[in-house]
Amino acid sequence: MMAMKKIKLDFSTSSTEYFFDASFDYLEKLTSKDNTVIITDENVFSKNKRKFSGWKTITLKAGEQYKTQTTIDSIIEQLIAFGADRKTFVVGVGGGVVTDITGYAACIYMRGIKFGFVPTSILAMVDASIGGKNGIDVGLYKNMVGLIRQPSFLLYDYALLKSLPKEEWINGFAEIIKHASIKDAAMFKLLEQHKLTDFQKDKVLLNKLIQRNALLKSKVVQQDEFEQGDRKLLNFGHTFGHAIENSYQLPHGYAVSIGMVVASVISEAYKKFKDTSRLTALIKKYGLPVYHSFDAEKVLAVMQSDKKKVKDIIHYVLLEKIGKGVVHSLNVSEIETVVKQLALNP
Ligand SMILES: NC(=O)c1ccc[n+]([C@@H]2O[C@H](COP(=O)([O-])OP(=O)(O)OC[C@H]3O[C@@H](n4cnc5c(N)ncnc54)[C@H](O)[C@@H]3O)[C@@H](O)[C@H]2O)c1
Ligand SMILES: [Zn+2]
Repeated sequence: MMAMKKIKLDFSTSSTEYFFDASFDYLEKLTSKDNTVIITDENVFSKNKRKFSGWKTITLKAGEQYKTQTTIDSIIEQLIAFGADRKTFVVGVGGGVVTDITGYAACIYMRGIKFGFVPTSILAMVDASIGGKNGIDVGLYKNMVGLIRQPSFLLYDYALLKSLPKEEWINGFAEIIKHASIKDAAMFKLLEQHKLTDFQKDKVLLNKLIQRNALLKSKVVQQDEFEQGDRKLLNFGHTFGHAIENSYQLPHGYAVSIGMVVASVISEAYKKFKDTSRLTALIKKYGLPVYHSFDAEKVLAVMQSDKKKVKDIIHYVLLEKIGKGVVHSLNVSEIETVVKQLALNP
């Protein structure tokens, strides 16, 4: 048994307490059952019914397609029905969809009440629940509406991962590889030395990896909460990734992995990056793809509409070397050339 580890990090206007290697039951120490409403989804609820007993719970349908204003309206009605007031605490227990929705609902209910998260997917543990971006999708536009506010706490209980489907483990590891690539060469090596099942079997190893990733993202966010600079590095693999994710309905982790490979090919040209083959080998090792055939015109059209684009410049995240990501301004025309080439010969 390891001991729970508590870490408090300050953000610009509030702080977040992290409880690593904790148990779900510890939630009662953080907030009382009377004064709390939990928001979760059907999958997480059905696998953990006992844990929710005695907690007022709102259970959402699972899936990105429910990350909408309609779901928010229904949550608000249920909060009112539970008699939630300004002192009520809201806790999102689930993957990134649940945490994004919960944070947003809490931020707007009565002009904002406190909230915390119990992330239950790898992606939520290392990425989505961290950094304070809360929001919903509008039609095809992902995360179009929302706001930035930090959760009061994050509670990590790895036992919850027992029911996480293998595809979702794999998906989450794409963001872990992303973190290693942009900021942490030693973690990149660690990932090379292991394989997915090592982390699934060994809780000590998993705890170290999750903590390392959660703190890595948290530090990037702390230094640049409102995405003026360094926080952009977290978009590594995401510019191209988002474009093919939407067009070809790929799982997010797949799209990001393919996007990381594209970014590393571009890095060879602009940053003398030399380790594309090391990156592709690692991506494959964790069951993720390195290529998907695509229509250049279609993908470029989506990249053109990227909400992070300014005029004809895209801030593309490239690698100088493994563990050293940099933001580089590329003209749309430069990207066009590369994307067209990649479409022809992968
Ligand atoms: N706010 C941010 O900074 C940020 C960052 C990255 C991603 N995101 C958002 O996160 C979302 C993706 O997160 P996700 O991949 O966790 O998706 P998700 O919440 O849809 O979870 C994936 C699937 O796994 C299931 N699941 C989750 N935990 C489980 C468990 N322990 N046992 C069994 N099933 C479980 C869910 O029900 C769902 O079917 C996207 O909406 C994305 O926009 C937000
Ligand atoms: Zn991502």
